[in-house]
Amino acid sequence: MKGERLVKSVREVEIFDVSYDGAGVGKLDGKVVFVPKTLPNEKVQVRVENTKGKYLTATCEKVPVASEKREAAKCPYFEICGGCDFQHCGYDFERQLKEKILKSELAKVGYLGELEFVKSDKRFFYRNKIKLEVEGDKIGYFKPKSHNFFEVKTCPIADEKILKTLPLIEEFLRENCFENLKNVYIKSVDEKVAVFFLFSKNAKKMQKNVKKIDIFRNFSIIFAYGDILESDKTEVEFVFGQKKFFKKFRNFQFEISPQGFLQVNDTVAAKLYDFVVEFCQSKNVVNAYSGQGLLTAMIASKAKSVFGIELQKSAHTCAEKLKNGLAIENMHNVCGKVEERLAGVLGKEKIDLIVLDPAREGCKKAALEEMVSSKVGEIVYVSCNFSTLVRDLKVLQSAYKLSSVRVFDMFPCTANMETVAILKRI
Ligand SMILES: C[S@@+](CC[C@H](N)C(=O)[O-])C[C@H]1O[C@@H](n2cnc3c(N)ncnc32)[C@H](O)[C@@H]1O
Repeated sequence: MKGERLVKSVREVEIFDVSYDGAGVGKLDGKVVFVPKTLPNEKVQVRVENTKGKYLTATCEKVPVASEKREAAKCPYFEICGGCDFQHCGYDFERQLKEKILKSELAKVGYLGELEFVKSDKRFFYRNKIKLEVEGDKIGYFKPKSHNFFEVKTCPIADEKILKTLPLIEEFLRENCFENLKNVYIKSVDEKVAVFFLFSKNAKKMQKNVKKIDIFRNFSIIFAYGDILESDKTEVEFVFGQKKFFKKFRNFQFEISPQGFLQVNDTVAAKLYDFVVEFCQSKNVVNAYSGQGLLTAMIASKAKSVFGIELQKSAHTCAEKLKNGLAIENMHNVCGKVEERLAGVLGKEKIDLIVLDPAREGCKKAALEEMVSSKVGEIVYVSCNFSTLVRDLKVLQSAYKLSSVRVFDMFPCTANMETVAILKRI
């Protein structure tokens, strides 16, 4: 009863901290309350959304006393969108909040040392990939933690080439009235743009007589059938435009699959890779979760040898093309799960360093246990999700000491960060 009353009422809260996901933290009736899009030192009026559990969640309705750090958001949808967490302050304050978040997360594994923070060159228009939801002939996103759709005409963290496709996609959807269309993914690869229309698996036969395809002119249109785009199980069909995509990276020019994983912020990715490669000089290295092989190839240019391990077949094929195209003899690509293939590589080769770069889910326990029982001297753990990083560090700490941490701000305006943890064998 008390909870229901609380949900209906608007209450005033003082925000005194920031939570791991970027929300402001206050107290209401003795309970912690999380209020997204508020800042420390603000007095805000909130509507409580959820009273279940030990804490409350609320939305901000008004800011009677604003922080001196508060700024107007660039995005017209910032207040209702779940994508960005920090457009309501300047970039310098966003950095300070992110450092605070990460420090308190790393304290859970006893790390109290310094954090080096590498900013992004661009705070806006940096993302080379977006995933849109579809409702009828409209494209948009979902509101936070829900499937409540809202239409968008822009997304100021996406790069300009991507934004140019949005009105064309709307027109295309209006003309075609597709059924079973689940998502639209837009990826820019250097100067080219690939637009993926992801349909449910059984929708293939229905996509005949596609209308107005030529409005896309400079873009490639690809229909995909499956649950998620980046999966070997998803079938892709090139419908319009060029089929081959090449990515240039310093002295590398190599073919990639636009369907496969690529880091979303090109300039920050370059800094991240340079940093990681410095640890590989003259060593035998495993690059676990190696994707399409770019980082593996860069490691090969400094290391004695490198073994990339990647699950996705199409990504592995690109890594093989990269190796063969550039005749990189000390680069070896293994296709399979890290948790199944790492032991084999460690059993055959004397490995000095493991570079890990898993997806948001982090590493499987079996892979971590393999590292703990190995003799490998160093681990460089690259993570896009500090929660799973901290979870995995708890396992690795039985054999490795966390010696330093550097943050690469791959995802400005959001509470996500690319974190690199350097571990040395005890
Ligand atoms: C964050 S991406 C990193 C890719 C690469 N290091 C890069 O920078 O482009 C993670 C990669 O791990 C792969 N992956 C996910 N689970 C895996 C597993 N259990 N074993 C091997 N690779 C996996 C994904 O397919 C993806 O390519």
